Amino acid sequence: MNFKIPLMKHTFLQESETKKALADFIIRAERLSMGKECEAFEKKFANYQGRKYAVLFNSGGSANLAMIQALKNLGKIRNDDKAGFSAITWSTNTMPLIQLGLKPIPLDCEPSILNVTLKNILDTLQRHDLKLIFLTNVLGLTGDLSNIKKLCDEKGILILEDNCESLGTELSDGKAGNFSIASSFSFFVAHHMSTIEGGMVCTDDESFYEMLKIVRANGWDRNLDDEQKVKWRKAFNIKSEFEASYTFYDLGYNLRPTEITGFLGQYQMQFLDENIQTRQRNFLRIQKAVEMNNDFVPLNHTHIPLLSGFAFPFIGKTPDLREKYIQKFIKAGIEIRPLIAGNIQRQPFYKKYDENEYQLNGADYLHECGFYTGNYPELTEADLLLIEDCLKK
Ligand SMILES: Cc1ncc(COP(=O)(O)O)c(C=O)c1O
Repeated sequence: MNFKIPLMKHTFLQESETKKALADFIIRAERLSMGKECEAFEKKFANYQGRKYAVLFNSGGSANLAMIQALKNLGKIRNDDKAGFSAITWSTNTMPLIQLGLKPIPLDCEPSILNVTLKNILDTLQRHDLKLIFLTNVLGLTGDLSNIKKLCDEKGILILEDNCESLGTELSDGKAGNFSIASSFSFFVAHHMSTIEGGMVCTDDESFYEMLKIVRANGWDRNLDDEQKVKWRKAFNIKSEFEASYTFYDLGYNLRPTEITGFLGQYQMQFLDENIQTRQRNFLRIQKAVEMNNDFVPLNHTHIPLLSGFAFPFIGKTPDLREKYIQKFIKAGIEIRPLIAGNIQRQPFYKKYDENEYQLNGADYLHECGFYTGNYPELTEADLLLIEDCLKK
């Protein structure tokens, strides 16, 4: 179906300029497998995010898998540990918890902020002893991350953030993605910036950083720096380079990006801030239209001075009202979709691996009443007026 306003229009920010630069890069590149372009993008991104280290992956989903595998390899979490996670999330947040032998415990979400709040966590802690909380910062919004971090620090609970949908969001006390031991980002098409496929993990923890690089490449040490290599080889009594190149120290995968990912990431970053500003402006404008119509639940984003989302999320007050507006959007030629994957507990894969039924009123409400359309810099004045028109009673 051809939409007047699709969920996204282009693969890249500054599409034609980026495609030309990419073609030129491929022609002159001597090497296309992971190398110095990836490293340069990692440095640039860590600097942008305000974290010490960044490790580039071939997708945001891989980044999530690697974070959990790294925590396991380091012995920070073990089989059967209980891991809380945002119930409104994406499959690749929850699946690795199951795949890697943890006990997933869904955390309910507050509808007006789409996210897990301190209260949701306190409620869950009354029933479950959580070792890890994997938060998803949904569509540019977040919960009260400072208070959540404070509580988790006090209780010795590790936090991971999936920041794939909130690159650039800033709270009064820091950027989303910086309230945890590590956070993931996605550069898949339609995210804030794209490397076609791609993901990143940011952390300040040196041993976690080192382990991420081991996990990313088969469990071997080839991408570690010289000092780190010496340490691993000494610990396992590996004496020659011949032997070291084929020594696998811990569990890993091949989750490597290519130099194309590294090149595109650096190139796209030059357009990122301006595009975040445009999306925030659009978001605030459309949110005003939402607030004028009491068929919708208004979003609460007063705690987020810079809201960087790639979508306009809408919550009808009832499932019937959602249906009414879904039909209006479709009739107007605007592509829409559910709020990420809804309450993930209601997905077939989840039910197969966790027979428990958790009472998640907020996540169920979002599942039944939420939907979203795309927020991207190419939206025209006419597009925005059409969306505003659909939000009228
Ligand atoms: C919250 C969240 N986490 C993870 C991912 C996975 O990212 P990728 O598609 O790069 O694997 C997505 C994808 O949209 C997402 O929305």
